[in-house]
Amino acid sequence: MRILSLRLIVALVLGVTLASFASSWYQVQAEKDALRLDLQRKAETFTESLAGISEYHLQSGDRAGLSKIIERFGDRDHVAGIGVYDTSFFPLIQTPGLRSLIDSAPAAFSTALRENSPQSENVRLHLTRLYLFVVPLHAVNGSVAGGLIVAYDTGYIRTIIFHVWSRAFVHIAGQVLIIVAITLLIVRWSLAGPIAKTAQWIKVLRSGRRSGQPPLKDLDFLQPLAEEVLPLAESARRAHAAAEMEARLRNSRESIWTPDRLADHVRTKLQGNGLFVISNREPYVHNRQNGSISVTVPASGLVTAIDPVLCACNGTWIAQGSGNADRETVDAHDRLQVPPDDHKYTLRRVWITEEEENGFYYGFANEGLWPLCHMAHVRPIFRVSDWEYYQKINARFADALAEEVSAESSPVVLIQDYHFALLPRMIKERVPHARVAIFWHIPWPNPDAFSICPWQQDLLDGLLGADLIGFHIQAHCNNFMSTIDRVLEARVDWDHFSVKRKGHWSAVRPFPISVDLVQGEFERNGDSATEEREKLFAELGFDGSFLGVGVDRLDYTKGIIERFLAVESFLERHPRYQGKFSFVQIGAPSRSHIPQYAEFQNAVEREAHRINARFGRGKQTPIVLLNRHHNREEVQRYYRAAHLCMVTSLHDGMNLVSKEFVAARQDEHGVLILSRFTGAARDLQDALLVNPYNIEGTADAIARSLEMNATEAQDRMRRMRKATAERNIYWWAASLIGDLCDMRLDRS
Ligand code: G6P
Repeated sequence: MRILSLRLIVALVLGVTLASFASSWYQVQAEKDALRLDLQRKAETFTESLAGISEYHLQSGDRAGLSKIIERFGDRDHVAGIGVYDTSFFPLIQTPGLRSLIDSAPAAFSTALRENSPQSENVRLHLTRLYLFVVPLHAVNGSVAGGLIVAYDTGYIRTIIFHVWSRAFVHIAGQVLIIVAITLLIVRWSLAGPIAKTAQWIKVLRSGRRSGQPPLKDLDFLQPLAEEVLPLAESARRAHAAAEMEARLRNSRESIWTPDRLADHVRTKLQGNGLFVISNREPYVHNRQNGSISVTVPASGLVTAIDPVLCACNGTWIAQGSGNADRETVDAHDRLQVPPDDHKYTLRRVWITEEEENGFYYGFANEGLWPLCHMAHVRPIFRVSDWEYYQKINARFADALAEEVSAESSPVVLIQDYHFALLPRMIKERVPHARVAIFWHIPWPNPDAFSICPWQQDLLDGLLGADLIGFHIQAHCNNFMSTIDRVLEARVDWDHFSVKRKGHWSAVRPFPISVDLVQGEFERNGDSATEEREKLFAELGFDGSFLGVGVDRLDYTKGIIERFLAVESFLERHPRYQGKFSFVQIGAPSRSHIPQYAEFQNAVEREAHRINARFGRGKQTPIVLLNRHHNREEVQRYYRAAHLCMVTSLHDGMNLVSKEFVAARQDEHGVLILSRFTGAARDLQDALLVNPYNIEGTADAIARSLEMNATEAQDRMRRMRKATAERNIYWWAASLIGDLCDMRLDRS
């Protein structure tokens, strides 16, 4: 910056000085010319009038009179001397000044006499600069008889010019000073300031930390540069994070799965074949609100895992179109390209009427199979009409898939969940060369429990059309194998966990699903738990010191009422927490058309009111029921702020809330209370495991969580985070797709 300032200053000083000199020089020349002209005029007028007087006196012989006149005029303005000479330059009258200066006839004198006309001349005599004006003098007969010389000392012109130059120098010096000062100020304010701020900002970015762009006014003219630097910095930050992760992986000899690694893995496994995913819920939902269409991504672990895979291999996702603007956004083949702002794969929508949805989704899937598979003491309902819709909609999805894979030689198909038990067989019938897996996201019950389903054989036969059948945990695989053993004519190979039916082998494997705990490892941003808690209490408008949180769909399998009873028992048994402990239950309404769900939601509200009436203190409420859908970021705030999170499902395939809570706790604080009847209890053994039916036991776990020493809580959370990161959602998708692609389909 110093060198730049110096160069700028030197260049400006030279430039300004030269320009000022040039302009001053012209000024001086003009001044000089004006002074000379003025002298010339003065000399001409004076000399000629004196010549007239001289001629008169000479012709009348009055030399004495002329001498007096000449003496009188001899010291006028700048006159150095006056002389009257005859033609041979003999002085007739001469002032003393001139006598000492002129000793021979100047050129102008000779010329004036020869040409009989006035002449002038600048001469330098005895170091004096003179301006001579000569006028010829005539005798009575008109002949030239001599000449009159008036000599002016031009030294005064030089003095004036000298003053003009002096003034010009003072001006130039002043200008230079002002310019240097202005330049330094500009450099400091407009260059050094923005450059220093930009450099500081880039330094922060270089360190790998996230940093927003400084305000525009601070960056000034460097704003376009900042716009280029920001994306560069973001990719550098990502590369930095990836390198950090690689280093950690090398150190710990672990292998963390990332979206990029998953995408790469799947591309390799597919060997150019197309990937097709089928689920009931779609990954992008279009809804029309206030006249415009908006798109939402359901908060679902499945979308998080499958979306990057499909993006990487340009696959197809087939799902029910459920948004009120879904039909407006597809093409003539019910397809659209997603993600909406960066088209990477195809979403194929399948349409279902309200009546069909009542039978297929609400009826058979959620009043039949859901309670059948969950031990939550809700009686399954099996209606023939629902079963017929279930078969019909499964067949519709099979037809849609057959259309989508018509050009594929070996398509890979991933079916999701209990809505599509019949689909694997239907697909194999239509597309025998497809590789098909189904992942069952809910528990599989024991054979006795499953046997109450009137169509158990059809469901099992449908599932055994798949090459690979996935569950969350080994116990569900075992139950499934036992059910087949009991119900179907099939060869059950317990050594290889495979089943052969109708000459086709299906492998049965556990793939515990998880969450996207990868990048969270690096980003410890945002408020601390205490700050977040204070903000949330303020937003909710109540007082409190201790915060517990539960996040669930309002579903009878989630043990929400048991959880509330445990909070009540805890406050009863530990009265010092009364007026201090609040439990926030985020409860997203779900499947409300089904009577058991509607009744359950009322029961949850009743229990919350009853307990609040008993233990509420002024602005403090023991149970806060937030009965609406919360987006991912809203939920994250509660996870980060809570002292404890309660997951008390009566029965759950996995339960991702428990893993989401662990993933959110970058601060390694917070205690997880987890039902031992969830799949997650196998992966998160450092949670406080509870039996949700044992209300007092769960109440004790609340007390233990709040009183646990910080080191123990941190150790537990750290271990749970490590386990979750090692087997994250990308690992789940990579294992499932990898196993499906690696299977031998021609086993006899
Ligand atoms: C369970 C099921 C999912 C289902 C989710 C939400 O986790 O296993 O398949 O998507 O609940 O239920 P919904 O009925 O709203 O899709």
